[in-house]
Amino acid sequence: MTDGETPLPLPFGYRDSALYVEDVPVSELAARYGTPLYVTSEARLRENARKLFGAFRPQWPRFSLLYAVKANSNPAIVRILASEGCGADCSNPAEIRIAVDAGVPSDRILYTGAYPRTEELAAAIDAGVRVNLDDPELLPRLLACGRPPALSFRVNPGETEAGPEGLRFAGPDAKFGAPLEPVVDGLRAAAAAGIRRLGLHTMPGSNILDPAHFGRLGRFLATAARRIRAAGIELEFLDFGGGLGVPYRPSESPLDVTEVARQIATALRSAYPDGTAAPTLFAEPGRYLVADSTILVTRVTHTKAHPIPFVGVDAGMHTLLRPALYGAYHPVYAVERRETEPHPIQHVGGPVCENTDVLARDRRLPRLRRDDLIALGIAGAYGFSMSSQYNNRPRAAEVLVRGAEGFPIRERERFEDLVARTRLPPHLTGTLLPPPVGPSGGR
Ligand code: LLP
Repeated sequence: MTDGETPLPLPFGYRDSALYVEDVPVSELAARYGTPLYVTSEARLRENARKLFGAFRPQWPRFSLLYAVKANSNPAIVRILASEGCGADCSNPAEIRIAVDAGVPSDRILYTGAYPRTEELAAAIDAGVRVNLDDPELLPRLLACGRPPALSFRVNPGETEAGPEGLRFAGPDAKFGAPLEPVVDGLRAAAAAGIRRLGLHTMPGSNILDPAHFGRLGRFLATAARRIRAAGIELEFLDFGGGLGVPYRPSESPLDVTEVARQIATALRSAYPDGTAAPTLFAEPGRYLVADSTILVTRVTHTKAHPIPFVGVDAGMHTLLRPALYGAYHPVYAVERRETEPHPIQHVGGPVCENTDVLARDRRLPRLRRDDLIALGIAGAYGFSMSSQYNNRPRAAEVLVRGAEGFPIRERERFEDLVARTRLPPHLTGTLLPPPVGPSGGR
């Protein structure tokens, strides 16, 4: 079945008519752990990391991957990627803690806070991780907390076509980064403050499928590195950010990461022709490493006749926000294929009281019935991590599949989790008194 054509990444696939993750039938996982359920393939995670190392290391031997923990911060996932040699890009102290607890060495952790509180800067200093400042003006506040072992600044490369609307982080209106000249001043000030290991960081956009974008970014970084060297500063690391895209739609093709690596390395070699002072190159992908490792399994709760019928499911914008927030497309797969039946066009809607709570529109799916299971694909990046308890729905469970085994890696929340930290002030406890009589009192 399927709504068509976005191919299922291995090791997801059908055996006879049943959808499997590695060697486990998805229906078994749903029966055991309930729905909505995020299901992650360990093999796919490892494969994604190996693919990136394999693309970049031959081009730029001093290459490190820092996994952007915000994409999916489940400790099991961070630990699998750490075991493949990934470091971590962390956006706040909680993510630093998750990375440290997962065994990521502090020298492979880069903290990039946007508009950080001073406590957050202090926590990064205490953790002994590399710090990347969004604005050189933050330097005095950081230095008041201490000195990081290595420091970089986020440069805004200016106007960019990078990424779909909502996923562009550069240009004059972007809230991120600083122009190059203030960054050069910041690097000088950091060197004067005794910080020896300096770097340059950028992150202009997300979900980019065109290798030429990364070539342009490489050329920008090469020009910036030359300018910085002319100011008397040698960089220890260059970080081109994340942004490596994955195909969600049937019309999209996978990004050629070997070509990305080649274009970036070619551009950077122009700034470091003899290779001796060449910095370490960091990439900090989130999406590329985790997106296609995971499906979101959800059960049909109701079907409604409509000019285009609605299939109601138990996952919604509280489980997977991307369609409501960005109009993002996630492929839909039947967990039990019924090829011989007609495949009408249908919408898939969630249980939240918002009209934007539609996970998939206009999809050609078999006529679904109550209690059928479907899976939304490419759900591992910014899926669980952007989920919420909106409409008072406990967050979903997560399961990791390794071969023929499934391991729960996050329990489903319960009602108690929804109210766990709420309190009634004393005057609202005890027996509820009737409202007073009067003009404003009701009755
Ligand atoms: N580094 C920094 C500093 C970032 O802010 C991000 C993502 C990344 C790395 C990883 O980017 P990636 O490789 O995943 O493109 N919620 C959106 C994506 C927002 C990305 C935010 N920053 C989505 O669901 O598509």
